[in-house]
Amino acid sequence: MPDPGWWEALWPDPARVLRDIGVTSGSDVVDLCCGDGWFTFPLSRPARSVVAIDIDAALLEMAKIRMAERGGAPNCTFIEADAYEIVGLLNAPVDYVLLANAFHGVPDRPRLAEAVHDVLRPGGLFGIVNWHATPREQTPVLGQPRGPATELRMTLEQTIASVESGGLKFSKNVDVSPYHYGAVFERLR
Ligand SMILES: C[S@@+](CC[C@H](N)C(=O)[O-])C[C@H]1O[C@@H](n2cnc3c(N)ncnc32)[C@H](O)[C@@H]1O
Repeated sequence: MPDPGWWEALWPDPARVLRDIGVTSGSDVVDLCCGDGWFTFPLSRPARSVVAIDIDAALLEMAKIRMAERGGAPNCTFIEADAYEIVGLLNAPVDYVLLANAFHGVPDRPRLAEAVHDVLRPGGLFGIVNWHATPREQTPVLGQPRGPATELRMTLEQTIASVESGGLKFSKNVDVSPYHYGAVFERLR
């Protein structure tokens, strides 16, 4: 996880990002690979329920603390688990799965996309927030190059190809930061 100072500078309005990528009020949402919960708290406001999943216990603990510091969210559950196991972690299908700043690091992307497909309701959405495939030197925040190594970054087209092979249909793209795209996919039926 990045250190919070520049992360906050890069994402000053996470609630706006969520609106832009189609998270709607009253929905059941998963924050997959939630990290220290920068997007989890703003998700918990419009959503009916949020399940926040991460493999790193220490980051999950930070996400819980962040949530508690903001007054808590009774509609939010935190689960320490591997993202590939998402199907077995939920009691019911959901309306939206968010994967922010993590897809570039997933070893088997079609496998993950297929698992996400299987937990979405028909009409449900998968939103991927990913760094554009620009060189790392060209994505400074607070005066330093930031984000994943250049060779790890994925173009929108690469992301679409990986996710559609898991059965979801590309729906729209929105630029959600100076350096990120927000690609939204739909489960058609
Ligand atoms: C750069 S952080 C992004 C955190 C958060 N989504 C955000 O944008 O603020 C990537 C996160 O992915 C998590 N992660 C990596 N592999 C994972 C896996 N197989 N299952 C669940 N979480 C994973 C890491 O622990 C880390 O918290």
